[in-house]
Amino acid sequence: MKIISNPYELKKYLNGTSQSVGFVPTMGALHKGHISLIKKAKEENTFVVVSIFLNPTQFLKGEDLEKYPKKDEADKKICEIAGVDVVFFPHAKDIYTPDEASILAPNVRGYILEGASRPGHFNGVLSIVMKLLHIVNPTKAYFGKKDAQQLNLISLMVKQFFMDVEIIAVDTMRESDGLALSSRNIYLSQEQRKEALKISVSLYEASKMVSKKELHTTTIIKAMREQLAPLEISYVEIVNRGFEPIEAVEIGNTIILVEAKVGDTRLLDNIWL
Ligand code: PAJ
Repeated sequence: MKIISNPYELKKYLNGTSQSVGFVPTMGALHKGHISLIKKAKEENTFVVVSIFLNPTQFLKGEDLEKYPKKDEADKKICEIAGVDVVFFPHAKDIYTPDEASILAPNVRGYILEGASRPGHFNGVLSIVMKLLHIVNPTKAYFGKKDAQQLNLISLMVKQFFMDVEIIAVDTMRESDGLALSSRNIYLSQEQRKEALKISVSLYEASKMVSKKELHTTTIIKAMREQLAPLEISYVEIVNRGFEPIEAVEIGNTIILVEAKVGDTRLLDNIWL
């Protein structure tokens, strides 16, 4: 496995390959969710690149950039064991310059849900993903359904900018009790971790309501809010796969999303129906 930190060196290195390149962008502190993306990339490509870059521009002032878990050595080991070909480990100074162009998230879809809780967050996400896709120039890039809105905005960006990369959506990996894996789970105390389970349970209960033919989104959202109490809820929303609000669940075209705070930790989860 090769570790490269200079973007130009990586471009040069990858220029030589005629193989299909699968790319998994991450911010490090790798867990089984990230590994499932890498596995899928391995299955579908001959060459796999993982980037590890804690992107400062997607954190708002006062967010957890400073305390975000850093596990560089463990991450490299995980990549090696998973059979990654190249880890791209850039320094911020090689990615950003003081005064430069950037990508702006769409005015509507970039500022609802997660974008409403974190205004401007998706500008940072789209800018770094655009840069990384230009550096790696992959055949396919892999993103988790766990960050459904991020996935949606990246898929849109790639279309809107006529980019030659296929975006692949990967299912959410969960702990055996249902908690969605996240790099931020390590912030949770044992007590908070138990509280956090309310999030996946509320989604599971919502899917049970749907299977019993309760399709009204307001009814489902009300039941979920009751189940989530007393967590501080940022949003519980039901949208179609284009992220438009809907009145009734359409099987095969619906996502139910939750963001709630457990202690100081914001946790995201969703279910695709
Ligand atoms: P990060 O949070 O490190 O996540 C990297 C990728 O792993 C994302 O595509 C995310 O959706 C996926 N992922 C996270 N938890 C997962 C889980 N439990 N199951 C499956 N996939 C999961 O998302 C980012 O980094 C950044 O915003 C990034 C796209 C790298 C841009 O900086």
